[in-house]
Amino acid sequence: MSTEIRTKRLTTRDIRARKGVEPVVVLTAYTTPMARLLDPHVDVLLVGDSLGMVLYGMDTTLGVTLDMMINHGKAVMRGAQRSLVVVDMPFASYQESPQQAFRNAARIMSETGCGAVKLEGGREMAETIAFLTGRGVPVMAHIGLMPQAVNTAGGFRAHGRNEDEAAVIRADARAVTEAGAFCVVIEGTVEPVARALTAEIAIPTIGIGASAACDGQVLVTEDIMGLFSDFTPKFVKRYADLSPIISQTASDYAAEVKARIFPGREHCFGLPKTPKD
Ligand code: KIV
Repeated sequence: MSTEIRTKRLTTRDIRARKGVEPVVVLTAYTTPMARLLDPHVDVLLVGDSLGMVLYGMDTTLGVTLDMMINHGKAVMRGAQRSLVVVDMPFASYQESPQQAFRNAARIMSETGCGAVKLEGGREMAETIAFLTGRGVPVMAHIGLMPQAVNTAGGFRAHGRNEDEAAVIRADARAVTEAGAFCVVIEGTVEPVARALTAEIAIPTIGIGASAACDGQVLVTEDIMGLFSDFTPKFVKRYADLSPIISQTASDYAAEVKARIFPGREHCFGLPKTPKD
């Protein structure tokens, strides 16, 4: 194995070439400091529209706007040096027509400098994906459970449990592959279906609640850090529990302010470090 430190940013071609070679590691990021911390450890930083729920306290992702995604995309780009940064297209910014999708994807790409966009949808979005990829916009597709379609899909539930649903997801995977997506997120999908379509298509599948059979995995960073507890899906593994640490830190600070312990002399301008200095 090479000891050379890779500083060049990963591209969509690098991710595409990982199929069958090495798992693709993806986490969400919405801010510069988090992007800086995650960047050395992941291949892709996804500026997901999950930020509506995680950062802004929304009940669904439907209220997220293009401007919100662009602002957070810029912030993540400032913190990421090595990872490919992918920015989600929010609800109603691409479903109307391929032309609408291109106009908004072009804004995301040119204003943030990110490497690709992500959009939800299978066969119904194939024409749009082909339109974008044919015009210089790399696309990460997203099929299976699609949070932007929560109102028509009957809520957040696992997909592919019966033959009809399995056939739909497999057809969606083939359609987005043929349309030119460089990889595809498979969300909330039963293992046998995720396994079958991963074997079937030529691009990497990035699973979230879709088993280890996928070519890579993505999770929401705040979920694995224990920073978002409104709702924790079954497929999330909590690697750390940072909420109590943050709570304790705020409580320690508040206690010191109230007791006039903070700020100490060392934090003040115009005072010697100790009274006798
Ligand atoms: O919005 C998001 O963060 C996502 C991932 C969870 C796949 O779409």
